[in-house]
Amino acid sequence: MTPEYKDLLIRLLTIQADCEIGGPHIYVDHWTLRAPTVDDQWRVARIASEEIDHCRKMLRLLNLIEVDRSDILERPRSKREVDAFKEDMPTWADFAAFGFLIDKVGEYQLDEMVGSTFAPIDDTLPIILREEKGHVAYGEQQLQKLIDSGTDGKTQAQAAISKWVRHRTRHVRQVGLGAHRALSRVGLEEAHERGGAPAVHRGDGAQDHRARPRRTGPAAGQEVPLADDSA
Ligand SMILES: [Fe+2]
Ligand SMILES: [Fe+2]
Repeated sequence: MTPEYKDLLIRLLTIQADCEIGGPHIYVDHWTLRAPTVDDQWRVARIASEEIDHCRKMLRLLNLIEVDRSDILERPRSKREVDAFKEDMPTWADFAAFGFLIDKVGEYQLDEMVGSTFAPIDDTLPIILREEKGHVAYGEQQLQKLIDSGTDGKTQAQAAISKWVRHRTRHVRQVGLGAHRALSRVGLEEAHERGGAPAVHRGDGAQDHRARPRRTGPAAGQEVPLADDSA
């Protein structure tokens, strides 16, 4: 792993970890026990728990390359990497629009990581991406409920969408979508200098000097092991 590759990887994983924990820091205190129904309160708590887990997974990836960025857990809101996470969320429509629009950018960021030259990322992505889609869908559903509830709800939803759309545009600029493609480019340049295939970086900082292996199921005709019932 070259210093340039490692620096970029640390930067990308740190931004992701910061964005994951940034949401709960805005809404947990205010909305966990104020969401409109007990189902919504449970959903807020669950979304927060999933975001904390996403942050935990990013910090663990950093640990694999011997980097500790747990300092972001205590970062003041004003120092977050992305302006959206410095905001307040005074209305329920804010919470909904945040999920619908800002978590969608989070989904784009994570989508970009699929097939990363840093192989351990792929192990974390399927669950995180599934959960992010759930956050976006819940935000959309709550906005729709507000819109259907009448004039007040519609006005609140419109104001929140206008506010978080601006943040979404800025968010995309600040996180620099395309950064993971840059990471792959650095990997390719490393390979070009060596005159070989792109390296697959493992978590221990080492690398295999061969093309990234594709995940495959059992080969045709190969026996599929059954789950062990004895456990
Ligand atoms: Fe997340
Ligand atoms: Fe999310």
